[in-house]
Amino acid sequence: MSISSFLRKKFSRSLFFPSHNRGKALPKKLVQLLYEDPGVWDLPELPELGSLFSDFGLIKDSQDYFARKFAVNSCWFGVNGASGLLQSSILSMANSGEYILLPRNIHISVIKICIVANIIPIFFDLEFSDITGQYLPIKKEWLKKILNNNLLNNIKIAGIVLVNPHYQGYSCEIEALVELCHRFEIPVLVDEAHGSYFLFCENSDLPNSAVNAKADLVVHSLHKSLNGLTQTAMLWHQGDIIDKSNLARKINLLQTTSPNSLLLASCEESLKDWLEKDSLEKYKKRISEAKNIYSELVSKDVPLIKTDDPLKIVLNTGSYGIDGFTADKFFYKKGIISELPEMMTVTFCLGFVEQRNFIDMFENLWKSLLSSIIERKELKPIKPPFSLIQIPEIPPSEALLKDIQKVSLHQSIGKISADIICPYPPGIPLAIPGERIEKERVDWLIKQGLMGENLLDFYINVLNT
Ligand SMILES: Cc1ncc(COP(=O)(O)O)c(C=O)c1O
Repeated sequence: MSISSFLRKKFSRSLFFPSHNRGKALPKKLVQLLYEDPGVWDLPELPELGSLFSDFGLIKDSQDYFARKFAVNSCWFGVNGASGLLQSSILSMANSGEYILLPRNIHISVIKICIVANIIPIFFDLEFSDITGQYLPIKKEWLKKILNNNLLNNIKIAGIVLVNPHYQGYSCEIEALVELCHRFEIPVLVDEAHGSYFLFCENSDLPNSAVNAKADLVVHSLHKSLNGLTQTAMLWHQGDIIDKSNLARKINLLQTTSPNSLLLASCEESLKDWLEKDSLEKYKKRISEAKNIYSELVSKDVPLIKTDDPLKIVLNTGSYGIDGFTADKFFYKKGIISELPEMMTVTFCLGFVEQRNFIDMFENLWKSLLSSIIERKELKPIKPPFSLIQIPEIPPSEALLKDIQKVSLHQSIGKISADIICPYPPGIPLAIPGERIEKERVDWLIKQGLMGENLLDFYINVLNT
């Protein structure tokens, strides 16, 4: 089968990203464009369009419009995912040889740019839920403990990245965290890939957006948490800590010379859609329906985990002795495609389309899973064995240049990693180049089966020292 034929495949429910639910919730103007002659919209950077960086043109006008609308310093469309804009943001905060502070649930794209640009990550650990096996959102006191830690005493921190909300929808009091970092004179980049729509919905009892919380840089994934096409993203820049022209240079450095015009139009239309009264009302209705789905399912004893994002349905299969990977395979066979299986949970994304008859469908599916999986396991999430603060023993970019050898996971104990070990989704690294692989980490990886597969045959590149 070819890729193009597979793309037509129908599923009963597409509960994954992109959140436009296979076109059904795409912005109206984008749909009109797609109904034009196929490909007519595939244009180069004609003078009328300009580019992200030009002094005039429709792209500049559009970016300026959103900057004015949300009273920020500048806005930038992205056509290489939230990943691309996160990477440019990191480059605008830190130079080669400088340090940035990262939570352990950081996205892999940030690690990759640290490797390429010789920026040294300092990891800080997060609190952990032994019910879900997932990280908990950061509390202010926790972050204060990190920032005051002696290990950071003589290190100049060029910036910090906060991930909010988490993949599964947990969110922290972002305003308090941003304010705390600013008190320590540390620039803040918030990876709000999963929370774009929070910015548009006041009075809907949603978490505060980091844009309103005055973070210096905020990255949105417009396909994960708005109704844009895959790869579309937005960077919001405010205040004067990050220099605008430096930021533009760093975006330009990583940007293709042929940005896809359809994706640029998608950036513009998905954002505008949420500023339009009628569409916004429609989306607010979706949010309230999603809240209802959650409470109805809970009242029917379906074990859902409460998060701060109503559009994420996190099913706690682990509490019934069924791991998320097994459950996910069961759902897949039924044509119900989830976004994120993990050891204890499966996360489904409702997206922005009306989910008709969802409650009955999901309850029946859950009952059917319970009756079909007879063998239950005792699943016990264990906290990843990370220290509160950890700096890779060798800068990741140096590790990349050294001689390496491939060894089994067991043989890697005590050696320095040359690889990023990172299951996707969620794309959170468990080890990065330059980090020493402790026995506890290997034992934990194998026990927790975080990659959803048998790790005993897993091989990894380590430094040849
Ligand atoms: C928290 C977080 N940040 C950033 C990204 C990268 O987004 P994209 O796939 O749009 O590049 C992801 C993707 O999974 C993510 O989960």
